[in-house]
Amino acid sequence: MGFYETPEDKQIRASDSANPAPKLPVRLAAIVIFGGQDTALESLTITNPSVALDVANKIVYRRPGYGPSQVSIISGGGSGHEPSFGAFVGQGLLSAGVAGTIFASPSAEQVRKAIMSRVDTEKGVLVTVMNYTGDVLNFGMAVEKAKAAGLKVEMLVVGDDVGVGREKGGKVGRRGIAGTVLVHKISGALAARGAPLDQVYKVAKLTANNLVSIGASLDHVHVPGRAPLDPNAEGSLSADEVEVGMGIHNEAGSERAKVSLPELIKTMLTMLLDKNDKDRAFVNVNSNEVVLLVNNLGGVSVLELGGITTEVVKQLGGWGIRPVRILSGTYMTSLNGPGFSISLLNVVNTDIGGPSMIELLDDPSEATGWASPVSKNTWEAKNTNTREDDATSDQSVKPSGLKMDSAAFKEALTWGLEALVEVEPEITRFDTVVGDGDCGIGLKRGAEGLNAPIYRGRSPVLKHLKETQTTGDAVVDVANIVPVIENSMDGTSGALFAIFLNALVHSLRKLPAGEASSQLWSQALKDSCEALSKYTPARPGDRTIVDALYPFVDTLGQSGDIKEAARASMKAAEGTKGMPASLGRAVYVGGSGFESVPDPGAFGLASFFLGLSGLYKSF
Ligand SMILES: *[C@@H]1O[C@H](CO)[C@@H](O)[C@H](O)[C@H]1NC(C)=O
Repeated sequence: MGFYETPEDKQIRASDSANPAPKLPVRLAAIVIFGGQDTALESLTITNPSVALDVANKIVYRRPGYGPSQVSIISGGGSGHEPSFGAFVGQGLLSAGVAGTIFASPSAEQVRKAIMSRVDTEKGVLVTVMNYTGDVLNFGMAVEKAKAAGLKVEMLVVGDDVGVGREKGGKVGRRGIAGTVLVHKISGALAARGAPLDQVYKVAKLTANNLVSIGASLDHVHVPGRAPLDPNAEGSLSADEVEVGMGIHNEAGSERAKVSLPELIKTMLTMLLDKNDKDRAFVNVNSNEVVLLVNNLGGVSVLELGGITTEVVKQLGGWGIRPVRILSGTYMTSLNGPGFSISLLNVVNTDIGGPSMIELLDDPSEATGWASPVSKNTWEAKNTNTREDDATSDQSVKPSGLKMDSAAFKEALTWGLEALVEVEPEITRFDTVVGDGDCGIGLKRGAEGLNAPIYRGRSPVLKHLKETQTTGDAVVDVANIVPVIENSMDGTSGALFAIFLNALVHSLRKLPAGEASSQLWSQALKDSCEALSKYTPARPGDRTIVDALYPFVDTLGQSGDIKEAARASMKAAEGTKGMPASLGRAVYVGGSGFESVPDPGAFGLASFFLGLSGLYKSF
């Protein structure tokens, strides 16, 4: 662990001994409860049947028996960087990944076992590690042992991080961070294509040499088993600060800043790209082909990473860089680090007379950690087509041939809405007794959306009825009202009405052309009730709007008389008096008023039906 020890870590250790009994850190508790490293490694064999686990040596490796012999690619390092590296084991990527404990290199012996007895050595082995003292020493020692035993092995050390410049870095040199996974992918694909070790090593090295990365994080991560970080300790970041250049083991970066995301990204891109920065211009990113990798350090939400990626791509445009491939996701973490890194690969000619770096990046692979579903063809088609037509415009409703008297339809609907308006105070009163008082359930919300402005001529539906010519086609006329209702009602009742009315349009459309009799209407309404019942468990007896709906539809079907149907509906609505609520918000609100008043939604709908049938005035 010492190899990775930063000043902050030292401080934590110091405070560890000063406070011998820190409370169980949340993360440690999580690892105890959710499982530790061994079970995490084991999961890789569960999610990818082509990989196996040597638990004792923490080696994840490809099972033998897949295809012809190829150069094997091995990587590894401390745990806590998942999906690196175990989850990159699979066809077309790594042959084996060796894991240490959290943030600590595996031992030379673990690595030696991986090289000498867990992979195919016939065509040779490429070992790629990131530039950390512990990893370089342990992997290096194992490589030397394997070579001494007569195996063909090459070792590549990746240092893509530009977080610490030449001057400050001094002897420590550049560290390896997320860009390393691009080296793995490209060399893994080349090996899978059957290239010999010298070529695989050459291309891996070219990739590493043309790679720059920079990280930034809002905080240090807490390492399980260590004391939680004291937010007030010297060296810790304040709530509004970001550490630019932070490494993947909490290593300090080059600076701290209180900046917005665009400013932060501007700083980071300048560190990656500024050719005049003598301290940091490690790679001249001047290729026509640049690959961008935006990597989650583990604790950034997917939503945030999306925002970051868009900002990075926009600003790269200002540098004249339009990446030919963009990867955005979680490739190399620092446990749950609240940060991200940006890597740029300056694609160069591989000069091996074989596939290009981009082709190798595009090659399929079967490693669960590699997330890059977009194919070469899709990238290169540069398709910018869009769909701009608006399917909801009125013109899209095709006539059905189901005729109705549109003047009568308009009149009845107006009566219904007016009835609703008149009973609104009563609905409100009922709702205050049994509902939540904010009129959030049942028809009340709908009534409000439709009612008050009616008299002022601003009811959306009434306005629509006034302004729109009805066509006499039942489907078209009902369908044209649906969006008006959808746009003026919200909440649960709005959704229920919308579903019901859309289903009604659909049902009407299935009817044979001709005159729309009340029998046919009733049939369509029945179908709509059925459609509605798929989306809500409400049935008669539950003290909901459904109590008024079903009797109306049933009676209309039996008698063909809309007045009788409306009366049945109101009778049933009145009958909800005394029913306890079993659905809707009234359930949570509770209370005892339900004995004395009907369900406001059912009452409102029944009032609407009475209005519709012309009965309201006499009611
Ligand atoms: C790795 O770090 C060492 C110093 O520890 C440095 O000399 C070397 O150049 C670095 N290697 C890479 C590939 O960055």
